[in-house]
Amino acid sequence: MCGIVGAVAERNVVQILLEGLRRLEYRGYDSAGVALIHNDDLNIVRRIGKVKALSDAINDENGLGTTGIAHTRWATHGGVTEANAHPHVSSERFAVVHNGIIENHKSLRESLTAKGYRFNSDTDTETIAHTVADIRKGTDTLLEAVLSAVKSFHGAYGTVIVDKHDPSTMVVARSGSPLVIGLGIGENFIASDQMALLPVTRRFIFLEEGDVAEIKRESVRIIDANGNDVEREVTESNVEHDAGDKAGYRHYMLKEIYEQPSVIRNTLQGRVSPDGVASDIFGRGSDEIFAKTEHVKIIACGTSYHAGMTARYWLEAFAGVSCDVEIASEFRYRKSVVKPNSLLVTISQSGETADTLAALKLAKESGYMSSLAICNVDGSSLVRESALSFMTRAGAEIGVASTKAFTTQLAGFLMLVLAIGKHKGMSSEQEQAILQGLAELPSKLEETLALANEIDDLAEEFSDKHHSLFLGRGDQYPIAMEGALKLKEISYIHAEAYASGELKHGPLALIDADMPVIVVAPNNELLEKLQSNVEEVRARGGIMYVFADKDAQFASDETMRVVNVPHCSEAIAPIVYTLPLQLLSYYVALIKGTDVDQPRNLAKSVTVE
Ligand code: M6R
Repeated sequence: MCGIVGAVAERNVVQILLEGLRRLEYRGYDSAGVALIHNDDLNIVRRIGKVKALSDAINDENGLGTTGIAHTRWATHGGVTEANAHPHVSSERFAVVHNGIIENHKSLRESLTAKGYRFNSDTDTETIAHTVADIRKGTDTLLEAVLSAVKSFHGAYGTVIVDKHDPSTMVVARSGSPLVIGLGIGENFIASDQMALLPVTRRFIFLEEGDVAEIKRESVRIIDANGNDVEREVTESNVEHDAGDKAGYRHYMLKEIYEQPSVIRNTLQGRVSPDGVASDIFGRGSDEIFAKTEHVKIIACGTSYHAGMTARYWLEAFAGVSCDVEIASEFRYRKSVVKPNSLLVTISQSGETADTLAALKLAKESGYMSSLAICNVDGSSLVRESALSFMTRAGAEIGVASTKAFTTQLAGFLMLVLAIGKHKGMSSEQEQAILQGLAELPSKLEETLALANEIDDLAEEFSDKHHSLFLGRGDQYPIAMEGALKLKEISYIHAEAYASGELKHGPLALIDADMPVIVVAPNNELLEKLQSNVEEVRARGGIMYVFADKDAQFASDETMRVVNVPHCSEAIAPIVYTLPLQLLSYYVALIKGTDVDQPRNLAKSVTVE
């Protein structure tokens, strides 16, 4: 996590850096800082809290510099203090910003301390600053010093270093954390995400693993992991320039919830028609791979994992292909058996999640037939490192709590079901049912959003609650999990999700009037079973909030509030039922007074393990 931005230019770069940080704040918002080189001086300004606190502290005197680096932090090593905020400095000369973790920081700290370096923070990052300073004593250039220093760092990092005695140079190193160089005219930039640099350039070089680069105003030199000078491809970005506007909504999250009908139209556009799914929408040659696919392995984290869980139900029930789903951080550290002709599918909004990337890397070495990334960010590491890819086209998602990214992932998975199912003997009735569901999906979502006032009203009843249970069955179980994650993430109410058949195996013990139970109940073949589970809760004095199809025959009474969700076909029900749960967590968070878009302790893109 953490956001990095840097610039070498002829003009003052401070506003470029601050705007870059604002755009990177989704990566962490514990503290922010900037180092500017001006008249052979190094000016450091750091503040606890969001980028706003930093920009408020910048003035005409401390805000000057034609070379600068800046950082927004998500704390890993060392608490949230100004001393631990980046940039970190060594020898009053070198300044460093860093994303990732230097795992051997303790031993580095010991040996640097023994050499007389004084540490001013508890961070692992400060070891980078002192190591480079120490090695630089014996080298001719900062580049040589960094090339030598990276050999002593273990872990995942993206880092940028400047030296006030070499004011028009930045040296950057990538190992496990993404860095992208932005090319300007007579000026160049670095950032951990291209979004940070879109106001100043559209031409980017994505650094590869192990690359070290020397960036000057007029030149960029890249040295690969083997020590060779390399040319990397320059790509022209077509990423949306500005998602930074709340369009009149109070929060990004609310805006993103309401965008779902239109972004799902984009996801479907040109890819699916009444005749079926277009060929090769998952990448060139994907149809041939799907024809050979006998098993699908899905790997992801957080909300993306819930999309994968839902897809498992669909792939097995509709496409008739076996599937298993795993959390990336578990997969990467266990020995697993690869089934013959297995397709690996990774899912990620950001495409930069460290655990998912590591899982992909491991899987690629383990004999999977091919890899497919379902992702929202074109050009992200996950997309670049997968053989096949599918862009969800949700547009930039700013709210830390994922909403439209999730529902577009699910729409993408329904298309994957069609694309694989046509090779596996999927019946035309089944295919038509999914196609019809997809065709009506945007309008069903619009109808569902009309429940907002009713849900807002219901959210009042959560104002004094500290715990909650979410229940669902079948493909609604992952939706219950996603609902619970949303509620805990932004309202800080403890929320657990259970497959409702599991209630009697333990969780029933928790039921009382202080434990709201939220139930997702479309009218499907499991409805009767779900109704029995609801009765089990009612018999124990539980208070329920049931999101149900109107034909499901639930009626509000003193123990149950029923919200009727528009009737929809079975295939799209998990997507439709997600929206009321997103709205519920949003309105509960408003009542709780939390920071909806940037909830405490979290970051949008989790680039550390
Ligand atoms: O970018 P990714 O989809 O890989 O992110 C995975 C999770 O970190 C993410 O979904 C997280 O759980 C969200 N904050 C949930 O709202």
